[in-house]
Amino acid sequence: MQNTSKTWPLNAIVYQIYPRSFQDSNNDGVGDLQGIISRLQYLADLGINTVWLSPIYPSPMVDFGYDVADYCDIDPVYGTLDDFKELLAECHKHDIKLLMDLIPNHTSTQHKWFLESKKSKKNAFRDYYIWKNAHPGSGGVPNNWLSCFGGSGWEFDAETGQYYLHSFAKEQADLNWRNPAVVKEMLNVLRFWLDLGIDGFRVDVPEWMIKDDKFRDEPENPDYKPGPQSDPYQQLIHKYTHAQKEYLEIVKQFIEVLEEYEHKFMVTEVWSPSEQMIKVYNEIERDFFAPFNFFIITHPWEARIHRQVIDHYDSRVTHVYTPTYVLGSHDKSRTATRIGHAQLRVAALLLFTLRGIPFIYYGEEIGMEDTLIPPEKVHDPFEKNIPGMGLGRDPERTPMQWDNKIFAGFSEHEPWLPVNDNYRQVNVEKLTGDDESLHALYKELIAMRQNSEALLTGKYSSWDTGVDDIFAYTRHAGSEVILVILNYSNKPHKITLPFRKGKLLLDSHGIIEKGTDMLLYNLVVPANNGYLVNI
Ligand code: NOJ
Repeated sequence: MQNTSKTWPLNAIVYQIYPRSFQDSNNDGVGDLQGIISRLQYLADLGINTVWLSPIYPSPMVDFGYDVADYCDIDPVYGTLDDFKELLAECHKHDIKLLMDLIPNHTSTQHKWFLESKKSKKNAFRDYYIWKNAHPGSGGVPNNWLSCFGGSGWEFDAETGQYYLHSFAKEQADLNWRNPAVVKEMLNVLRFWLDLGIDGFRVDVPEWMIKDDKFRDEPENPDYKPGPQSDPYQQLIHKYTHAQKEYLEIVKQFIEVLEEYEHKFMVTEVWSPSEQMIKVYNEIERDFFAPFNFFIITHPWEARIHRQVIDHYDSRVTHVYTPTYVLGSHDKSRTATRIGHAQLRVAALLLFTLRGIPFIYYGEEIGMEDTLIPPEKVHDPFEKNIPGMGLGRDPERTPMQWDNKIFAGFSEHEPWLPVNDNYRQVNVEKLTGDDESLHALYKELIAMRQNSEALLTGKYSSWDTGVDDIFAYTRHAGSEVILVILNYSNKPHKITLPFRKGKLLLDSHGIIEKGTDMLLYNLVVPANNGYLVNI
């Protein structure tokens, strides 16, 4: 463990690309690898040094690549393996590392393993998946386990007379990770990509990989209130299907494969509360490993709450580990829609000044919003299974807005999801030409972070300001101390801090000149504003 220098992955600035929606090079309405290659210079100019690609493997696209039909190839809609090799080489030329999405919990039901497994109970691949007889009492589903996308987690196969388990769509069959043959296959999948030279993985839902071996019914959730906005998956407490501790043994095996190579990184998707996440760090104990921290997304946008949650997380994820912070993703409403445009600059200051690797979802740097998707254009299986509850994820997956030409410069063909109507105002071309844009602020903050030991690795301490709406903290390394002051409200506030004065490094709205002396006693922070001050 040597997590003290500015080297990658500690200095990673990760940009998540949803490949279907980033750039279409062949005008079929779907983004592709050549499209991504053509935009790498844009990412390098922004200061991005790591790209995470959502899945690009061959897939029937029921869950847009999270239903993998072949782990060792590229879906033709995105290009070929040669295109991928070119993309990887181009990323490296631009000093950008590349992370692939690894989806170990389930395969598509079109994967050759499942097609074999389904043939008969005696098939050599039968135990690659989780098959069960009907419940002896009811004659129906084996137990009450649910699918995250609605309904039972079990699907009946009439030919062999058994049910198979799917924690997500019924076209995504869960692999049986208690079968050593599955473990072996998947470790070789990791090696396949690492041998090609990729820099690591983002791991999809590892907490679902291991289920109770007694297949016990899950208890009802006493806090669940049925209603038009309630996700039915929350009816049960997922005591037997989620975060079983043996799953970490598998993650450890992934880590061991990474250690066969040099300078790799792995980030796992973890939807657990803080304490659970800390356990993950303590079990894995590697500085090139981190679980995602979605707390900024999952907690209300309130300074007081953010302070509590971040204080706790930061105190537990000590300096030997690698913290992360995620502002947006392909599964959650976009930041502009969640917190409103007025707060986007404050959010940017927060993301790039916390002690943790920042994850940016494509388009967040220009303030893209959720797009209204008419029912006939819905693609997401989540929305299709449970319509009208606001669970669908298409709104945050619409085409990247590059310019004000047709289809926002994403394609010349009608894209697979509609472009947001605001693309004439909100697009890369317009915002990169404007020194006062959100994009310019992202660029400045990224550069500042990369050049500051305090922001990269420095100690984090939060401070009382006497005002609930203001979150203030310092980042401190050696003689460098940076004070961050964030006003989460639409009102100005006068605050008192235990510091006398400092020099302004950055004002979120560029009103006060850099280098100005700031008196920190009785300081008035304007509405929706943030300051970085050298003290
Ligand atoms: C989590 C991914 O982020 C999500 O998009 C996907 O639908 C599920 N895992 C299933 O793979």
